[in-house]
Amino acid sequence: MDTRIRIFDTTLRDGEQSPGAALTAEAKLEIARQLALLQVDVIEAGFPISSPGDFLAVKSIAESVRGPIIAGLARTKDADIDRAYEAVKGASKPRIHTFVATSDIHMRHKMRVTPSDVLAMTEAGVRRARSYVDDVEFSAEDATRSDPGFLCQVFQVAIEAGATTLNIPDTVGYTTPAEFQRLIHHIRDRVPGIGGVTLSVHCHNDLGLAVANSLAAVEAGVRQVECTVNGLGERAGNTALEEIVMALMTRKDHYACSTGVVTEQLHRTSRMVSALSGMPVQPNKAIVGANAFAHESGIHQDGVLKERTTYEIMSPQSIGLSSNRLVLGKLSGRHAFRERLHELGLTLDNQALERAFVRFKDLADRKGELGDSDLEAIVQEEIQGVPEVYRLDYFAVTSGSTAVPTATVALTSSNGRVQEAATGDGPVDAVYRAIERVVNSGAALSDWSIRAVSGGQDALGEVTLRLTHGRHTYLGRGVSTDILEASARAYLSAVNRLAQAPAIKTPSQSG
Ligand code: KIV
Ligand code: ZN
Repeated sequence: MDTRIRIFDTTLRDGEQSPGAALTAEAKLEIARQLALLQVDVIEAGFPISSPGDFLAVKSIAESVRGPIIAGLARTKDADIDRAYEAVKGASKPRIHTFVATSDIHMRHKMRVTPSDVLAMTEAGVRRARSYVDDVEFSAEDATRSDPGFLCQVFQVAIEAGATTLNIPDTVGYTTPAEFQRLIHHIRDRVPGIGGVTLSVHCHNDLGLAVANSLAAVEAGVRQVECTVNGLGERAGNTALEEIVMALMTRKDHYACSTGVVTEQLHRTSRMVSALSGMPVQPNKAIVGANAFAHESGIHQDGVLKERTTYEIMSPQSIGLSSNRLVLGKLSGRHAFRERLHELGLTLDNQALERAFVRFKDLADRKGELGDSDLEAIVQEEIQGVPEVYRLDYFAVTSGSTAVPTATVALTSSNGRVQEAATGDGPVDAVYRAIERVVNSGAALSDWSIRAVSGGQDALGEVTLRLTHGRHTYLGRGVSTDILEASARAYLSAVNRLAQAPAIKTPSQSG
């Protein structure tokens, strides 16, 4: 049996359905480029019919990202499939991924259709997709809560209509490893022609079992695993890409399978997705959490110093965690800056590159030297692609244990320069109140966090926040050596998004 496991990344589709995750078209393209460097097999770039923005993002990824297959999601409706094809047709390896729900609960309550309707929808959807492309994936949504006999019937119809990959989603994260294996064996034993297609799984993490269920599926003969970077996704998320890849690599002795992923790109990919989506990675997260390779207890430290493998089953280098190399300083010029970004696989258009260079010079003046993670943080600020409706000219804050925190800010917009002052509960609050006096957005701060980009006292601070306005949430990120400036920049980047878009995120239509 084939021992190569295909990695199907759905960060840009299911991952983007994470509550609070918001990716601009520029951010999606940058993540797709990084996924190509990671060498995943398939990038599910979006759900083209769901919004014009999603359509354009899939189209631009299909036209410019080479290497992986580029997939677009579609229900079985003609309009969905036509739109998905329009979006992916520019790819060198296009795939249409069509799906319909097969569980009684979904058929009866969500779609209000009969099982024979679902058989007809499957047949029509897959056939239409096959009339456009040779590579068609079919998913039976809520497969793990479907009647196994009916599921086999649906899969048989999908194969006869031309599907080349059959996906078994655990849409609500309900199944368990042993039960999932029994279902997969049942399907493999009973569906005629199943040996000629790639069998895939797509697990959600509602019970914290997504990775375990996906690995169990691999043992049961599945050869494609759908996953997301950092486990992003609807509700509790999806199978985490980095965990499945490193489990297959580290326990090759057990699974006897491999992926094509360049594991040394995992850490950078995780950081990029976290920064651009505004979804922090918990420190104790497996593989990519800040503590994943930290040894705290004296006994462990002693053991690792004597022999790394005493307490480490993977090396930090295997996921691309190297020490933060000090590469550029305040005397470095544009050429060195551009070269280093190129080496890091970071691409910016000329204007964004110029803005990033100005930021770099400003921060290098204050901090002296900047490491790779500092450069990545600066560039990710630019990649967000939000036009600067308001720009921070300067701010000043007075604060202390007895003083009333007071901030003055000056912002420039097309209306010129406006200065305002305000007091607040603390210095950050005072800055935000002063900004609000200028921009008058009416939005409420719903989330605020800060992290140090690299180690040390002079580390850059990165602030991530969300502003809520009506039903919509706007992500903001700001980086600086000064945490108040980072806070102000983050607030303004969210305000600039709000000023640009009626809605950053369209309501999701599938899980
Ligand atoms: O969770 C799910 O069932 C999905 C399908 C569209 C594959 O995301
Ligand atoms: Zn899903």
